[in-house]
Amino acid sequence: MSVIGIDFGNESCYIAVARAGGIETITNDYSLRATPSCVAFGENTRILGVAAKNQMVTNMKNTIWGFKKLLGRSFRSPLVQKEVQAFPFPVIEMPDGSIGVRVYYGGEEQTFSIQQVTAMLFTKLKEIAEAALHTKVCDCVISVPSYFTDAERHALLDAAAIAGFNVLRILNEPAAVGLAYGIYHQDLPPPEEKPRNVIFIDCGQSTTQVAVCAFNKGKLKMLSCLADPNLGGRDFDNELALHFAADFKKRYNIDPMNDKRAWLRLLTEVEKLKKQMSANSNELPMNIECFMEEKDVSARMKRADFEKLTENLLRRVHHLMRSCLQDSGLRVEDVHSVEIVGGSSRIPAIKQSIQETFRKPPSTTLNQDEAVSRGCALQCAMLSPAFKVRDFSISDVQMYPITLKWLGPDSEDGEMEVFPVNHQVPFSKMLTFYRKEPFTLQAVYSGNIPYHNPVIGEFKIDNITPTAEGESPKIKVKVRVNMNGVFKVASASLVEKKGAEEMEQDAASPSAMEETEDGKTPKSNTTVPNTNAASDDSQKNGPVGENDVPMDEKNDKQDQEKPNHMDGNGAEEGETKPERKGKKAKLVLKTVDLPITSTVCQLSKDVINDLVERESKMVMHDRQEKERIDARNAVEEYVYEMRNRISDDLQEFIASNDREKFMQFLDETENWLYDEGENCKKSVYVTRRQDLQKHGDPVVARKKEFDERPLCFDQLGGGLQQVRKALDLFAQGDEKYNHIDAEDMKKVEKALQEKEAWLDKAFNSLSNLPKEKNPPILAQQIRAEKQALDNVVMPILNKPKPKVEPPPAPKSEGGEAPSAESPASEAPDGASAASSKMDVDQ
Ligand SMILES: Nc1ncnc2c1ncn2[C@@H]1O[C@H](COP(=O)(O)OP(=O)(O)OP(=O)(O)O)[C@@H](O)[C@H]1O
Ligand SMILES: [Mg+2]
Repeated sequence: MSVIGIDFGNESCYIAVARAGGIETITNDYSLRATPSCVAFGENTRILGVAAKNQMVTNMKNTIWGFKKLLGRSFRSPLVQKEVQAFPFPVIEMPDGSIGVRVYYGGEEQTFSIQQVTAMLFTKLKEIAEAALHTKVCDCVISVPSYFTDAERHALLDAAAIAGFNVLRILNEPAAVGLAYGIYHQDLPPPEEKPRNVIFIDCGQSTTQVAVCAFNKGKLKMLSCLADPNLGGRDFDNELALHFAADFKKRYNIDPMNDKRAWLRLLTEVEKLKKQMSANSNELPMNIECFMEEKDVSARMKRADFEKLTENLLRRVHHLMRSCLQDSGLRVEDVHSVEIVGGSSRIPAIKQSIQETFRKPPSTTLNQDEAVSRGCALQCAMLSPAFKVRDFSISDVQMYPITLKWLGPDSEDGEMEVFPVNHQVPFSKMLTFYRKEPFTLQAVYSGNIPYHNPVIGEFKIDNITPTAEGESPKIKVKVRVNMNGVFKVASASLVEKKGAEEMEQDAASPSAMEETEDGKTPKSNTTVPNTNAASDDSQKNGPVGENDVPMDEKNDKQDQEKPNHMDGNGAEEGETKPERKGKKAKLVLKTVDLPITSTVCQLSKDVINDLVERESKMVMHDRQEKERIDARNAVEEYVYEMRNRISDDLQEFIASNDREKFMQFLDETENWLYDEGENCKKSVYVTRRQDLQKHGDPVVARKKEFDERPLCFDQLGGGLQQVRKALDLFAQGDEKYNHIDAEDMKKVEKALQEKEAWLDKAFNSLSNLPKEKNPPILAQQIRAEKQALDNVVMPILNKPKPKVEPPPAPKSEGGEAPSAESPASEAPDGASAASSKMDVDQ
């Protein structure tokens, strides 16, 4: 079983695999480690990864890229609207407010959701992994930026499900990098000592993330994490492109900003220039041939000018680093080292800014491009039962505060922040409500989030009725952010008061329930309750924070296996509660699990199943189309190869009139391929190639025979010569063969004569044969004759000499033992030497 880790980048993806020997990066069908996050549509087939990127400029409207920034977002969000402007392909609003792309595929206009497009990329990654590992790949861990909200995480899980992945965990990119660092550092301080604080800075293509992590042996605690979702390599490219566009307008009177294709080309060229400037501080040229209006353009820039141009961006990077350090509560002196990852961290000005901010040079212990995927593969191996990996715990943080609002007919609306910013995840909290009727909780991101819709979801808790006394019963609600960083109302239960008699049968006290929550003892009561929340007042509206419990990973894993939150039921955790029987209390409590209806931004199971089917059909179609194209290419290749060869090395092996006919057939086929044979079924190409081969194969076979024949004759001739020599030695009474029976030697002689006669005849019949004629004797037959000879003669000639017992050792006075080189032991050795020599020719 193979487990993989995927770094899903806005520009490119990396796949790492956990193997017994460690973590390795998988290369794709182009032998590259990075697979572009690019999905394109052709007339008949999808084009994914490297091939998609290669044809981006020529198939601009049907090549989708940059979609990581659209996943799980709504079309109307201002951020999406900004992104959309940069795309040369049509992006549309779907009926549910989400985003779709409109492409020309399969002979018609088609719309795909961003989840589907992402799933197509994942399909490609799956294929790459399966081809490299020669096995089915299903289990994986996929990274996401730390700022991804619930909607984005759900959308990613949906996309992965459509592609047939089983996501064991979504891992935040900084946590993945932290894991890749921590697990290989054996010199981390022991748990009781002060941790080692390491800062990780990931400057990617679209995002910059800073994370402050505290490490102890086998443990990572994320202290703070900040991200700028709109600051990355592409922003640097953009500044450059804007600069050159203005320049070109002045000097060449062309406006690339009004031409999407030119703009795309300009972005590609400035990115190259930017990378060159990272390695070179001299002035560098940028030339683009036939850029616009058939004009060639050229420009120059040096690193210092680039840094001036991007001052604003560099300032933002610096600000992000300072703010993150501040959030962590650490000082610069407390930082052990600063590790950089992500392609844009190669920009010298960013490294310089890191050096100035943290007063230490950035270190590159980690593979800048592959650290995220490696961390994911490690995490996947840790979660998979098939691997044994050193224990390493990750305590991540929740980037945005989560507030719970409650709406209910029998009480006033209210709200409470349940997970403040940078709160540890995974984590569960137990809250208590008093309600007579079903009520709804709404979870929202509070604080400053970069999205226009802060709602995470609504969770309706049902089956609540007043107590026998007409009061509001106590409702315990467990909320959690699981290890995927996804918020959910995990369970809800009604606590019933019962009489003393009933108590003896099933009395689960609240304290018992608290202790078993997530399998751990509650640590503290840190959730801030609303006014008077702690009192047992049935009129109160707000929840009482019961306990804060770090999430038990095992429970989280179970949660992972039930990804459909649309109709989740809070009963899943209730079963683990032990019952406590006792006779002391007069009044006892019984808990009843309540159903929860969750409405979150996630596709329903039915929709996912439908999309899985559509994706499978497209995969099948792509495969068939690939086979069809391969079959067509095979005909084309055969035509070109044969046309060259029958005028070259095959010329003598085909009669001239046959050559003319064959040549004509080849020419006809070539014309057919570009005419009515352009778009045929696979079987048509296969038949056409077979027809061509009927002409070509005998020619190729004659040439092959001609080439192989001399060696076969040599081998047979050499073998006969050796047998003849052995017979001569035998006749002379040579010691080497004097142990062999004369009768046996007659058999050898007979075989020799037969084969010599065969060889003479064969040689004569083949030596004068015209090359264009089929040989009556094939190389294979000559080899068979040699084998037949060996089968008869070898067992006789290689027969070992009988062993002669050495005479008993004389009791020498000097006490010296006979040497190992006694003649008695030499004879068999000699025989075996002879036999091994004969064996060589077999
Ligand atoms: N030598 C270099 N100098 C400057 N920038 C570089 C260099 N090499 C790569 N980059 C930039 O790094 C970016 C790609 O980085 P990376 O692969 O980390 O991004 P990603 O993971 O795909 O995106 P994201 O993390 O934003 O989702 C591109 O903008 C690229 O231009
Ligand atoms: Mg990245």
